[in-house]
Amino acid sequence: MKIAILPGDGIGPEVTAEAVAVLESLGLPGLVLFEGDVGGIAYRRHGVPLPDETLAMAREADAILFGAVGDPACDALERHLRPEQAILGLRKHLGLFANLRPARVFAGLEHLSPLRADIARSLDLVIVRELTGDVYFGAKGQRVTDAGEREGWDAMAYAEGEVRRIAHVAFRAAEASGLPLTSVDKANVLETSQLWRDVVIETAAEYPQVVLDHMYVDNAAMQLVSHPDRFGVVLTGNLFGDILSDLASAAVGSIGLLPSASLGERRTDHGTFGLYEPIHGSAPDIAGQGKANPMATILSAAMMLRHSFGREDEAARIEAAVARTLADGILGGDLGGSHGTAAIGAGVRERL
Ligand code: NAD
Ligand code: IPM
Ligand code: MN
Repeated sequence: MKIAILPGDGIGPEVTAEAVAVLESLGLPGLVLFEGDVGGIAYRRHGVPLPDETLAMAREADAILFGAVGDPACDALERHLRPEQAILGLRKHLGLFANLRPARVFAGLEHLSPLRADIARSLDLVIVRELTGDVYFGAKGQRVTDAGEREGWDAMAYAEGEVRRIAHVAFRAAEASGLPLTSVDKANVLETSQLWRDVVIETAAEYPQVVLDHMYVDNAAMQLVSHPDRFGVVLTGNLFGDILSDLASAAVGSIGLLPSASLGERRTDHGTFGLYEPIHGSAPDIAGQGKANPMATILSAAMMLRHSFGREDEAARIEAAVARTLADGILGGDLGGSHGTAAIGAGVRERL
């Protein structure tokens, strides 16, 4: 079980340390951890946000545990030198096109959600976000128009093969779980989305038992917080998935609770090679204060055990320990509590 640990910037190292401690406390045989630099810290040490040696280490591993990247001091750098290029580069170079972002309100934890308990109770969904295409990876630039005005532009495009392969991931998830599939797009305005919808409908023919519907992204944002029970598997593109997953995390209670798995086609001995990270960023406003909620990263480690190592039992144990820790009121400031990162991590390990 070779795992590359890439803590990154801000609260990244703080939350990653707790997830590593949870993994180590399981006493798994053959666990080997490597650590590498990514993001602003890598820029300062090596002059680039994703050094070749880090990428090589990531390729060598069976799975990657990623913290977060981003540093306000780097926001004025040329784009290719900015910390965020590290995570974008890893996703692209490693072919990690399928991003799973599960969001659920654990039974008994409805009080953590800002939604009314009767609405929060039904929130249990997974966002299947396409991760290596869309406006994120299109041509972009700034130019001066004929009128002499500065103009910024970004090309949004999806090739049908990109849509089809992520659609298969979502259909398989819906088929396996028996949950309905909602494809989220903006086909009323965007050609990218019209092609997306057409390809999803074509792919549906291979999954006659899956209940499929389509929703515009603005409506989906609204329904996610008013009728979360309408969603099971949510299939969407890179940009919409980014936004909707932060929204879903807030509906659960905090962005510090939502994990993710980024998967491609490469197999490991007992699963799929993947990168696992919380959906949140480096949180510069609370970095270095020991306040960050490590649950999202701990839950990401659980997803790693499930998807890359076939260790469903240990994954479920971690998830149960997280739920018990929250139920016992061991909460950080993001959830109205006063526990720090280390106390929350210790709380999970005690309950494992
Ligand atoms: P953010 O997710 O870092 O923070 C948003 C808010 O949520 C902040 O108030 C922060 O304190 C809070 N928060 C986030 N995670 C938390 C946690 N675990 N516990 C408690 N509170 C938490 O988003 P942002 O402020 O928009 O971005 C900050 C930097 O992170 C930027 O440079 C951005 O590009 C980067 N970013 C990186 C990733 C990634 O590495 N995958 C993801 C998102 C943002
Ligand atoms: C995320 C982040 C990244 C994204 C940024 C840091 C590039 O917001 O993982 O959600 O937009 O995908
Ligand atoms: Mn995001």
